[in-house]
Amino acid sequence: MSKNDRDNILELVNIKKYFPIKRGFKQILRLDPPVYVKAVDDVSFQLKRGNVFVIAGESGSGKSTLARIILKAVQPDAGFIILNGEDITSKNDKKTMKKLHENVQMIQQDPYSSLNPRMRVMDIVMEPLNIHERQVSSKPERIEKVLSSLQDVRLHPADSIADQFPHMLSGGQRQRVALARALVLRPSLIIADEPVSMLDVSVRAEILQVIKSLKDRLQISCVYITHDLSTSRYIGDTIAIMYAGRIVEIGQVDKVLSRPLHPYTQALIDAIPQPFSGTSRKKNLCL
Ligand SMILES: Nc1ncnc2c1ncn2[C@@H]1O[C@H](COP(=O)(O)OP(=O)(O)OP(=O)(O)O)[C@@H](O)[C@H]1O
Ligand SMILES: [Mg+2]
Repeated sequence: MSKNDRDNILELVNIKKYFPIKRGFKQILRLDPPVYVKAVDDVSFQLKRGNVFVIAGESGSGKSTLARIILKAVQPDAGFIILNGEDITSKNDKKTMKKLHENVQMIQQDPYSSLNPRMRVMDIVMEPLNIHERQVSSKPERIEKVLSSLQDVRLHPADSIADQFPHMLSGGQRQRVALARALVLRPSLIIADEPVSMLDVSVRAEILQVIKSLKDRLQISCVYITHDLSTSRYIGDTIAIMYAGRIVEIGQVDKVLSRPLHPYTQALIDAIPQPFSGTSRKKNLCL
C-alpha cells in the first residue's frame, strides 16, 4: 500500500454509470438506437481519511447514484472504486460485501421512513450489531454499545430514548437515531445523502454539529451529499460541484465558495436564500 493509499479512505477513478431510457413501442419498431441518461459521467475524486467530502449539485445531477455506486448497490459501467487502498470494483463475494457493510454506513434523507416503526430504538440501533457481531459479543456488551452510540449523537438520557418507538420522537431525534445506528459498528466512512433536507431549519444545525464532532472525535470520514450550499462551508473540507453527471469544479470548500470558477457554482451560490436583507450571500454560506 502506497502512502497515498493510506491517506485516502476512498478513491473513485473515472466512474461512469449510464441508465437506458425506456423506449416506446414505435421507437423500438423503428429500430431507433437506445438513449441513455448519463447519471455519472467520468467522475474521479479522493477522500482523505478523517475528512468530509461534500458533493453538491441540483436535483438529477447524479449525487445519489454516486452514493449507491460507493456502497456497491449499483455496479458502475466503467471506472474503479478503491476503499482503504483496495480495489473493490468487481469484488462481489460475501466476505468483501460484509466488510463493506461494516466499514461504510449510509444515512438517508428521510428519518420518517428509514426507521422501522414497530421496533424500539434499542433494537433499531442494535440491529447492525446483531448481524455483524452476534458471535463475538454478548447481549450486555451490545446494549452498552447501543447506549454509547446514542450518547455519541447526544441523545440524552440514552436509556430512556432507547425504550421509545420512532413515532414518539421528533424528526431531529429520529435522524440522530439513524446516525447512532450508522455509528454503532464504528465504520470508517459514512455517506450522508441530504441528511438534513427534510428537517426543520431549527434542528439542522444540531445534526450537522453531531456529524462534525464525529469527524473530529472519532476520525470518521464522511461523504456529505447536498443540493444546498449553505451548510457546506461549516461541515466540509473539500467540495465537488456536480452538474449533469460530471464534476464541474472541485477543491477546498473555502476556496470554491469564495472564488467560484465555474458559472454553475456561482448559480448555486446565487440560489442560497437570504434571510435578512443586507447580509451578503457569502456570509450566509456558514451557519
Ligand atoms: N435506476 C435508475 N434507472 C434509470 N434512471 C435512473 C436510475 N437512477 C437514477 N436515474 C437517473 O439518473 C439521474 C441522476 O439521478 P440521481 O438520483 O443520482 O440524482 P440526484 O443528484 O441524487 O438528485 P436529487 O437531488 O433529486 O436526489 C437522473 O436523471 C435519474 O432520473
Ligand atoms: Mg439524490
